[in-house]
Amino acid sequence: KGCKLVGCGSAVPALQISNDDLAKVVDTSDEWISVRTGIRKRRVLSGSDNLTSLAAEAARNALQMAEVNPDDVDLILMCTSTPEDLFGSASQIQRALGCKRNPLAYDITAACSGFILGLISAACHIRGGGFHNVLVIGADALSRYVDWTDRGTCILFGDAAGAVLVQACNTEEDGLFGFDLHSDGEGQRHLNASIKENETDNVLGTNGSVLDFPPRRSSYSCIQMNGKEVFRFAVRCVPQTIESALEKAGLPASSIDWLLLHQANQRIIDAVATRLEVPSDRVISNLANYGNTSAASIPLALDEAVRSGKVKAGHTIAAAGFGAGLTWGSAIVRW
Ligand code: ACO
Repeated sequence: KGCKLVGCGSAVPALQISNDDLAKVVDTSDEWISVRTGIRKRRVLSGSDNLTSLAAEAARNALQMAEVNPDDVDLILMCTSTPEDLFGSASQIQRALGCKRNPLAYDITAACSGFILGLISAACHIRGGGFHNVLVIGADALSRYVDWTDRGTCILFGDAAGAVLVQACNTEEDGLFGFDLHSDGEGQRHLNASIKENETDNVLGTNGSVLDFPPRRSSYSCIQMNGKEVFRFAVRCVPQTIESALEKAGLPASSIDWLLLHQANQRIIDAVATRLEVPSDRVISNLANYGNTSAASIPLALDEAVRSGKVKAGHTIAAAGFGAGLTWGSAIVRW
């Protein structure tokens, strides 16, 4: 069985924060941020905004483009590291979309690689599990886990949601040519938002001994990152994973119409494009307007590129995600 991309959509919060706005909060400048990252502004959740409704809006837009009714969706994969419920948020999106046939819905957590992982998972479900219409949503609100006093990280992130509809098709129409996925737990120390155990009083046991019970209540720390190490990792591993996916697809790098990387830093995007010899006019980038939106960045950039007419039916896209875990991976797909 084959699978193809038949729709995309995105949604961003209304509140826009410019580099100059950030310079009022931390010791930084528009010039430093633009030169080092390429980012000029980002969107951030505010007021009654929430990630689940943003994700549902992106999904609705993708379904509309695909001309598929929510009732015909049989799987929802919500790729996020910032769910609004510890037990997962995919079911809430299913409810918001009003999918009446109780399609399976679950979350995938793989930070900035989440969307690529979701895309490949969708293909596996279609090829091996008989699923027909799979919604893959990438949505994150890292603004909730950023230390807004840490100028090394708070300037990078924004909130957003993006989605694609992956549909079963015959093998001749198959639009997923090759993929490649990896993780490296050794690198977790370079980028994480680890669990934090809050202090509570120990409980006295019946014989006067102190029990280490109940367990301490937990929350998550703010994002900790060694930017230089993450930069080095991305520039080394992203070209490798794309080369490997191309090899599996039996395609040369020259067959890439568009290079679509996780939008983390323009210098990373440029370095990868140079390594793969992809000219800059075939590189998709919208990082300047949204910053690093984690699992949302690839479907958000894809949606903009499709709706603006840049990416056209039949184009081949090399997409790659990379981030915390560490995780990284790529997919060669046809739009
Ligand atoms: N404004 C002004 N100065 C700053 C800022 C800032 N916002 N941040 C750091 N600096 C200073 C530092 O203090 C340092 O000063 P010093 O030389 O006096 O010590 C100097 O600028 C250089 O700092 P570096 O951290 O070495 O700067 P670098 O060039 O490495 O850029 C950056 C930092 C932009 C974070 C870069 O390393 C990067 O983009 N790394 C990759 C990040 C990334 O892609 N993360 C993916 C996350 S995906 C996920 O899964 C969540």
